[in-house]
Amino acid sequence: MLCRILDAQHIYKKFLRRFTSMKKKMTTVAFKGTKEQEAALDALIAELKGEEGALMRVLQGAQGIYGYLPIEVQKHIAVALDVSLSEVYGVSTFYSQFSLNPKGEVAIGVCLGTACYVKGSGDIINKVTEILGVKAGETSPDGRYSLEATRCIGACGLAPVLTINDEVYGRLTVADIKGILEKYM
Ligand code: FES
Repeated sequence: MLCRILDAQHIYKKFLRRFTSMKKKMTTVAFKGTKEQEAALDALIAELKGEEGALMRVLQGAQGIYGYLPIEVQKHIAVALDVSLSEVYGVSTFYSQFSLNPKGEVAIGVCLGTACYVKGSGDIINKVTEILGVKAGETSPDGRYSLEATRCIGACGLAPVLTINDEVYGRLTVADIKGILEKYM
């Protein structure tokens, strides 16, 4: 019995790792930063440059300004803070709070928390990928769809759960996914 539990835990962890590593792929969506965003970022850099932990705080601020950390912004930060791009990239990809992809107009989240996972959310996320051609952690090149593998969203009674923008869809089966996505096509 214990072996079976450990086996299940091992499979679950492996599955989570697979989706977590997908999260850090660079976006293929064209960068559309504005002058106002750049000015806000420069003001933040000017305030923090030279302080301890400046890079982390600037990246947090940049994510707040742009909603994600595109490579153009990472390069700008590297030059302005006088650090290497590989250091900026390393921090951006190490911490799960940072995203390298913008949210799509249709932002889809599939919960991979334990309750959802045991009720088949792995098959749900694979079905979304199959239909839209977007993997977990990615955004379609036209910026329309993004797909995130999320942690528990506190709706375990509805497991497995998928969210699209502010809508929550629960007690799903793989057969439900096509019909739900068609509403957003
Ligand atoms: S585990 Fe999915 S909502 Fe809690």
